[in-house]
Amino acid sequence: MTQDEMKFAVAQEALKYVVKDTIIGVGTGSTANFFIDALATMKGDIKGCVASSVATAERLEGHGIKVFDLNEVEAISVYIDGADESDDGLNLIKGGGGALTREKIVAAVADKFVCIADESKLVKVMGNFPLPVEVIPMAANYVMHQITRRIGGTPFIRENFTTDNGNLILDVEGLKITDAKTMETEIDSIIGVVTNGLFANRGANVLLLGTPNGVKVVGT
Ligand code: 5RP
Repeated sequence: MTQDEMKFAVAQEALKYVVKDTIIGVGTGSTANFFIDALATMKGDIKGCVASSVATAERLEGHGIKVFDLNEVEAISVYIDGADESDDGLNLIKGGGGALTREKIVAAVADKFVCIADESKLVKVMGNFPLPVEVIPMAANYVMHQITRRIGGTPFIRENFTTDNGNLILDVEGLKITDAKTMETEIDSIIGVVTNGLFANRGANVLLLGTPNGVKVVGT
């Protein structure tokens, strides 16, 4: 089974978590794109979606799915999105696509977070994937120094990339993330950081993992 076939399978499985007649939060990335295409098959069953990026909003609208501004909605029943890494506590690294801040906001509002990924994303200790950190551009050097001094790892500015919010992304290499909640809080406390790609204080509730033997469900 190819990686894309596993992503397709988890996207199909995620349809089971869509709550009818509600607003759904939708993530960003190649796995989320498979989910958007799957969601289009039942678009008449939902009120619409809140998107975590401009790209996701465009894909949803391309399928004729209504996209709401987050400030217009009272509640989001479920947020469905991919991840770059997960540990077995369902702490995640996200932001490979640079959409981490909006993703984290939509995840915070949602009653439930269903993460969809192929099995390569599940690791014992996170950090092999560089941790994305969104920063206000004028603070980039300051934040890089603070991360090196207080957190460790080596931050690099992501080249030729601006987030949907007009900011920069630092990718921090060489971390071994054994206490994701503490690290998430510590990085967010650095002035100039908008948010970081650790989703631990609000991790996933359910992880749907695509494997060659079918979809494995972790969590409830
Ligand atoms: C985007 C993300 C994505 O969820 C993450 O990068 C995984 O992407 P993909 O499904 O393409 O592997 O956090 O900001």
